[in-house]
Amino acid sequence: MSTAIPELSTFDEQDLDRAFAALTAEVREQAKSLRSDEAIEAFRLNWLGRKQGRLGQISAAWLKSAPVEAKKSLGIRFNALKALVEEQRAATGDADARTASTLDVTLPGTAHRIGVEHPLISTMAEIVSVFQRMGYSVGLGPEVETDFYNFESLNFPPNHPARDTQDTLVVAGQDAKPLRDRLLMRTHTSPVQIRTMLEQAPPLRIVIPGKVHRNDAADATHSPVFHQVEGLCVGTDITFSDLKGTLDHAMKAFFGSAVKTRFFPSFFPFTEPSADVQISCIFCGGKGCRKCKHSGWIELLGCGMVDPAVFEAVNQRRIELGRDPVYDTKKISGFAFGMGVDRITMMKYGISDIGLLYSGDMRFLEQFA
Ligand code: DAH
Repeated sequence: MSTAIPELSTFDEQDLDRAFAALTAEVREQAKSLRSDEAIEAFRLNWLGRKQGRLGQISAAWLKSAPVEAKKSLGIRFNALKALVEEQRAATGDADARTASTLDVTLPGTAHRIGVEHPLISTMAEIVSVFQRMGYSVGLGPEVETDFYNFESLNFPPNHPARDTQDTLVVAGQDAKPLRDRLLMRTHTSPVQIRTMLEQAPPLRIVIPGKVHRNDAADATHSPVFHQVEGLCVGTDITFSDLKGTLDHAMKAFFGSAVKTRFFPSFFPFTEPSADVQISCIFCGGKGCRKCKHSGWIELLGCGMVDPAVFEAVNQRRIELGRDPVYDTKKISGFAFGMGVDRITMMKYGISDIGLLYSGDMRFLEQFA
């Protein structure tokens, strides 16, 4: 690559034309072979480089010494040359334009490995789709919640011992606020039941997948972050047998039609009556094995009929928000359920340590690709 600048004997138009025509031809010629990053960088340095750049040399040698009357036409030519250099360089910055001339369509392509859903996400999506097929819509809510939505409206009064069953991670610096407005990391997806009922009038059917947080020490079966799918169905004449039928169908749809369900009395502040649901062991079919601790059953989810106190809290809040209190406990009823996605994922794939789901270890994750 030439680095010299042409001789210029005079500054008359003819000499200037000749000199700039030579330079222009040279720029065009060099620009043709700019196929590698190295070549582009050499081109840039040759013309635009601060020290050895030829435009700089031309400016120093000619523009400074030109007689006043030649400065204008010299300047115009100089600027046109500079614009050409910039233009050629910009054109090479376009990778497609650069490869177009070197593209060999007969070469095998570069295979890009596409990612896959994390097993937790795909399990959660599968659970959600079982309910979608039963006419449920999907809702989401915030992970940073207020005490009101996470507890108070769900019938966990202040200081109620049921709050202690959900080791809560609270946001710092909230003490000056009234309790109900204090922020915390939601300990379950149930607050989205309330958020949904504030926005929608009955009847409604909704599933809510999401991440929840508890102040639990991590071990093989506990993680301070985990996942739940919540469900809520509200309307007229919704009974406990609707709840049983819905969940029995959902478990069969998810785990296979041979699975049986059974319901045990339980307690949750926001449902009355409440139940724990067990499914027949998916590993031994109910005969008893190590996985089901030889009972033949596996506990999988909590559920119950929505406690009227929850509807009252919703009505109260709807009034505060200027909305009609349409959850009339004399006319409507509903059921709710909540399940842990992590445990179901672990059962489904035979994962024995919940930590693997959060470790980001590619050796583990690649097995799901
Ligand atoms: N929110 C409960 C928990 O995290 C789970 C649950 C139980 C949700 C019963 C429900 C329900 O909607 O009806 O422990």
